[in-house]
Amino acid sequence: MNKIVFATNNAHKLDEVRAILGEEYCVLGLHDIGCDEDIPETSDTLDGNAEIKARFVKDNYGYDCFADDTGLEVEALDGAPGVYSARYAGPGHDSEANMTLLLQNMKGKVNRSARFRTVICLIEGDSMKKFEGIVNGTIIEERKGSNGFGYDPVFVPEGFDRTFAELSSEEKNGVSHRGRATACLSEYFHNKN
Ligand code: IMP
Repeated sequence: MNKIVFATNNAHKLDEVRAILGEEYCVLGLHDIGCDEDIPETSDTLDGNAEIKARFVKDNYGYDCFADDTGLEVEALDGAPGVYSARYAGPGHDSEANMTLLLQNMKGKVNRSARFRTVICLIEGDSMKKFEGIVNGTIIEERKGSNGFGYDPVFVPEGFDRTFAELSSEEKNGVSHRGRATACLSEYFHNKN
């Protein structure tokens, strides 16, 4: 079985990625390799942060590794909150406060277009590859639904009339930014073998 590290301790993300990559991959989380550090995300791009996390694991633990970074990019806000999505309303990573600030900044805006974008950086030996997944959609004016996390209650993906927080996890994973980026990673692995 191919062993690979996913630089996260988020159990939900690990489950999602394991389901997409299938049984020939043994995906280890940071905890599984004895890494309980919070890897600093100091870049001002999603690409840069994904690379920092993957590089940290490769350099310090020696494993081939992939890492992801995601941002919500809102057209009327010139791409904000973008790479700062987790800390939009402050360092506390508070989703409720982030959504409140987003809705406040979107008050009166006619253009409600937005997208989630995920970048995955894979480091295998000396080689590095990047994969991207995007889902387009719109920001509504008030929260709807209680599933998911982050900005899910205010984001309606293209082709749906419900927010991410009103979709089942299967529905969301089928169209989501992270689902799409992981599908590209999976395709790369399968073509390689
Ligand atoms: P991360 O890079 O996956 O940790 O994502 C950074 C931030 O983007 C999260 O803290 C959330 O605020 C937001 N985010 C990422 N993915 C999603 C999603 O699927 N739904 C809603 N918000 C998300």
